[in-house]
Amino acid sequence: MCETLTSPAAIVMTGARDRVDPIELSSYAGLGAIGLLTLNILIGLLLSTKYNPVRRWPHHRIDTVSLHNYTGWTALALVLVHPALLLLPSRVDFRLIDVLYPTHAPKQPLVNTLGAAAAYLLVVVLVTSYFRFEIGRRWWKRIHFTTYAVFPLFALHSMFTDSTLGDHAIDYLDGEKVFVELCIALVIVAIALRVRWQKAQPPARVHRKRVTHHPQQ
Ligand code: HEM
Repeated sequence: MCETLTSPAAIVMTGARDRVDPIELSSYAGLGAIGLLTLNILIGLLLSTKYNPVRRWPHHRIDTVSLHNYTGWTALALVLVHPALLLLPSRVDFRLIDVLYPTHAPKQPLVNTLGAAAAYLLVVVLVTSYFRFEIGRRWWKRIHFTTYAVFPLFALHSMFTDSTLGDHAIDYLDGEKVFVELCIALVIVAIALRVRWQKAQPPARVHRKRVTHHPQQ
């Protein structure tokens, strides 16, 4: 059979079960995660500028808050599936501890640790978003800013992993790496635009706190 039939679609179509490589599947989950996280950050940055899709492009009502939520939770699901697949029998033996705390993982422990740190921070950001009313807006917002730390962590992890875990030099022109590079570039440009937008805003007015006198006090 053709050697190239290793994509998930080809595996399903041909039923070539013996070709399923957990490391390759894990790489697809990682790529899906970075794609969704990129979309999630872009929508989050739009939300922070109070972008109105009805008044501006695409001149349609779009529920950007729900989109931000869905992309975040789906990305988290893929982020968890991605290292979990490494536990399946393959060329490289990852133990549970190597996935949860990869400092001594059998391959690329440093970049995997960056990925794990990103994953843990992402869990914190999403769980605290779920309980944001209980936590209160002020604290929730402070915690939510850690997303700016999640981005460089998963960006470095995704750029510097050898997706085959075969100790090869990284090919930065490989299709998957180009996708990763595009995602990172998009986020950097979007953050720069967000900062420019912020600088163009009129300075915020300082509101004096009104003191209300209660007759019984
Ligand atoms: C926010 C969290 C994470 C994101 C966005 C992410 C993303 C990615 C991406 C995009 C790749 C593939 C790069 C390519 O194909 O060139 C990758 C590879 C890899 N990641 Fe992650 N990752 C995350 C967390 C983790 C964690 C927690 C581990 C735990 C050990 C891990 C271990 C690996 C390994 C071993 C590879 C190389 C093998 C493979 O491609 O699956 N990652 N990651």
